[in-house]
Amino acid sequence: MDIVNNIAKLQGLLKPHRQEGSIGFVPTMGALHEGHLSLVREAVKNNSVTVVSIYVNPTQFNDKSDLDRYPRDLQRDIKLLKKTGCDVIFSPSDREMYPEPDNRKFDFGALETVMEGKYRPGHFNGVGQIVSKLFDAVIPHKAYFGLKDFQQLAIIKKLVSDLNYPVEIVPCAIVRESDGLAMSSRNELLSPEMRKAAPFVYQTLKDVSGKSKSHPISSIKANVKQAFKNHELLELEYFEIVNDFTLQSIDEMHPKTACTACIAVFAGKIRLIDNFQLNS
Ligand code: PAJ
Repeated sequence: MDIVNNIAKLQGLLKPHRQEGSIGFVPTMGALHEGHLSLVREAVKNNSVTVVSIYVNPTQFNDKSDLDRYPRDLQRDIKLLKKTGCDVIFSPSDREMYPEPDNRKFDFGALETVMEGKYRPGHFNGVGQIVSKLFDAVIPHKAYFGLKDFQQLAIIKKLVSDLNYPVEIVPCAIVRESDGLAMSSRNELLSPEMRKAAPFVYQTLKDVSGKSKSHPISSIKANVKQAFKNHELLELEYFEIVNDFTLQSIDEMHPKTACTACIAVFAGKIRLIDNFQLNS
């Protein structure tokens, strides 16, 4: 496994795979867990070379303290990736990725005015900046993204279509802890008390899924709000049931329209997001 931190070296390593083989790419911010590793394994299975980037991208953090406390442990990540069959780790510095400030403004339309886009202003612009830079550096045939970040996946698909990147985006299922909590690098920042409480987020989504065929969306939403009002530790930021393609909130379920329940919750200072497909 090669570990490189500059783009020229990375491109040298990938050159033999560009024409003949297939380059699989998994962008991450490190502090890897089974969710990330499931994406890497999928890439390894289907490509002649797999690149994993590890870079905590400052431009996508709208909250400075979230960036400061974001977990980083490159040595541990390297050990985990060695076991997956990953070929190249790309772990660049800020200077490598942003030799000059990136002033580009992306327009993701209505996809970015809701949920994460609404509550984390500027977040998706930063994601667009770094993912486009990483795609320019790696020029992958396939790139793997988790459904855990459901809205991010829609944003990336739009980025690829708007900028004509010749890359196939491969969505990957959410990996959960045995108690249902969606795996996340931020989970390790939860206090033991908050960690114990956090699976309530998934339980709520499962409960919503059970009711979604028989209850009106308005009453489902009211129930979710009430459940979190009654909860001593967790604070609801948003709960939405959205059309999978437009990401706009829907008022009524239609059997033929794919939709997903999306949620963001504060467990103390730590923000957790999760989602559950309702009519797949
Ligand atoms: P990060 O949060 O490190 O996630 C990297 C990838 O792992 C994303 O595609 C994310 O959806 C996926 N992932 C995280 N937790 C998962 C889980 N429990 N199950 C399945 N997949 C999971 O997302 C980012 O980094 C950044 O925004 C990035 C795209 C790297 C740009 O900086």
